[in-house]
Amino acid sequence: MRSVSESGVSGAARLAGIMGWPVKHSRSPRLHGAWLKNYGIDGVYVPLPVAPENLGAALKALPMLGFAGVNLTVPHKETALRFMDEVTPAARRIGAVNTVTVLPNGKLRGDNTDCFGFIANLEASLPAWNAAAGPAVVLGAGGAARAVIAGLLDKGCPEVRLANRSRARAEAVAHDLGGTDFGGKIRLIPWPVNAAVLSDAALLVNTTSLGMTGQPPLELSLQGLPSGAVVTDIVYSPLQTDLLIQAKTRGHPIVDGLGMLLHQARPAFAAWFGKEPEVTAELRQIVLGAPIAEKKA
Ligand code: ATR
Repeated sequence: MRSVSESGVSGAARLAGIMGWPVKHSRSPRLHGAWLKNYGIDGVYVPLPVAPENLGAALKALPMLGFAGVNLTVPHKETALRFMDEVTPAARRIGAVNTVTVLPNGKLRGDNTDCFGFIANLEASLPAWNAAAGPAVVLGAGGAARAVIAGLLDKGCPEVRLANRSRARAEAVAHDLGGTDFGGKIRLIPWPVNAAVLSDAALLVNTTSLGMTGQPPLELSLQGLPSGAVVTDIVYSPLQTDLLIQAKTRGHPIVDGLGMLLHQARPAFAAWFGKEPEVTAELRQIVLGAPIAEKKA
């Protein structure tokens, strides 16, 4: 009979995974797998290819299968909301679930840790960073943009300037996130971005897929962006996007997108496996490792 120490996994192992369709692009099994190994935890984290029409049944089966929880990726994050028994304020506000935890009573709790991941990555990468330092320019209005904007407003950002190719989508984000709490702090700006809106910005965030391997480039000149302004991209394939290269050349502090992926996983790992995991340089290398079919998050 194999023991935990020989195989890494016993019959009592805690179970978690990621549901996506497809799911083969995901780096999360590598990430959680590295933490499990590092902390010697008796647990597994597996890719779960779940077709959209099977999402409800697959989620409902989690308590019966003894799962501690799962992550959700494309295309399940928004649809999953309706299958949750409880939804955290973060997931409700962002309108998407990326982390499901099976509670002791068998109910499903849906959370969204992208907001936490985005802010934690900036704070870990640039300890002096302060969201209240000035306006932020956010490019994109998808699920990732919602998490980024919610995080920035929570941290005291005085103004979010939001630009998106599809204006209607940006309006929906401003409406949903600009409610009573943050009225007036989200300002829609035209796409493509006019250099003038960068002139007093403290932060520039790309949440679009532009610049990602296989996607068109993000064409934006940073001329006029104040020298101390931070530039960050949630795209992490390539790790150094053209936007980050341009920013680095101009001397801006830059933060790449891999850290958001790593930090958003921390609360989930802690909830499922009972250990607060650390994001380290070694972990970055492990997760980067060999190429995987690419897509954000
Ligand atoms: P995520 O959940 O990662 O935010 P998403 O919801 O698919 O992903 O959002 C992708 C973002 O990239 C959107 O803001 C999208 O703009 P639209 O809302 O106009 O579609 C943006 N995007 C993707 N391809 C683009 C392109 N070729 N030019 C401009 N923006 C693009």
